[in-house]
Amino acid sequence: MQLEGKNVLITGGTRGIGKSMVRELVNGGVSKIAVIARDRDNLKQLSQEFEDVKFLRIAGDVANIEVLRETAARIEDKWGHLDILINNAGIVSAGPLEDIPDEDIYDQVAINYTSILLLTKYCIPLLKSAEEAAILNISSGLGLIGMPFYSVYASTKAAVRQFSDAMRRELAPFNISVTCSFPTATNTDMMQKFKDREMDSPELVAKRSLEGMLNKEIQVIFGGEERLKENRLNFEDPAALDEVVAQNYEQRKTASLDHKAV
Ligand SMILES: NC(=O)c1ccc[n+]([C@@H]2O[C@H](COP(=O)([O-])OP(=O)(O)OC[C@H]3O[C@@H](n4cnc5c(N)ncnc54)[C@H](OP(=O)(O)O)[C@@H]3O)[C@@H](O)[C@H]2O)c1
Repeated sequence: MQLEGKNVLITGGTRGIGKSMVRELVNGGVSKIAVIARDRDNLKQLSQEFEDVKFLRIAGDVANIEVLRETAARIEDKWGHLDILINNAGIVSAGPLEDIPDEDIYDQVAINYTSILLLTKYCIPLLKSAEEAAILNISSGLGLIGMPFYSVYASTKAAVRQFSDAMRRELAPFNISVTCSFPTATNTDMMQKFKDREMDSPELVAKRSLEGMLNKEIQVIFGGEERLKENRLNFEDPAALDEVVAQNYEQRKTASLDHKAV
């Protein structure tokens, strides 16, 4: 698949990995991009920064079902079809489960997961109208390995992985590919708390994820060989990984406290 001339919908395209993906799309020749995000100023900023792009700016919360329905309706009216859907918007609220506010539990499920089910559902007729289409879902390394103190976030991201597998198989007869990306720590607002750590850049994550989508790769996994080894261990011998994780239990707990970007 090529990017040139494609119609794209991305959630959370105003900051972090999403904004870097917008830049990559524009560099690749995309000039019609629909973006959903809550902050209007950041949406306007996109039009100022990428003057040649015809943005469909949707100011709203992906947890609001009407926003998602209206987005699909507007794309149908304006463009008639959609070539690429990127489910990127996400939030995190970490810590021991008993300390995570109830609202943050609901919101992480609604924003990180339910919104992807619904938006994908509403976009399928639009994607089926394209000659060839692609869906890119942004999960997380924590969607492959459930780490303590990220129980809610990690389970929403694991659900995105399972949804991606199911939809890839369901949509195969329609020439719609589904790629799931698993970034590890990436230097964005979401990781502000850890800004002194070494992290991937949002540009790298955006570029590699989109490349994977264009090549119809099933998964794009970040974190290098070490992470691949851990993923294998988690699958084949989870008790062995439990022992590794237990070695720095308290450090993990402390690091998770106040890790909140909602
Ligand atoms: N950064 C990492 O280390 C990392 C690692 C693994 C996976 N990820 C995943 O990568 C994706 C992007 O993360 P990021 O680090 O780029 O995050 P970010 O810098 O915090 O940006 C999040 C983007 O999503 C939008 N968004 C958040 N909640 C929304 C809502 N309810 N409705 C509509 N838009 C919403 C934000 O815009 P508004 O606030 O204006 O709505 C913003 O554009 C997320 O799914 C995240 O879970 C990130």
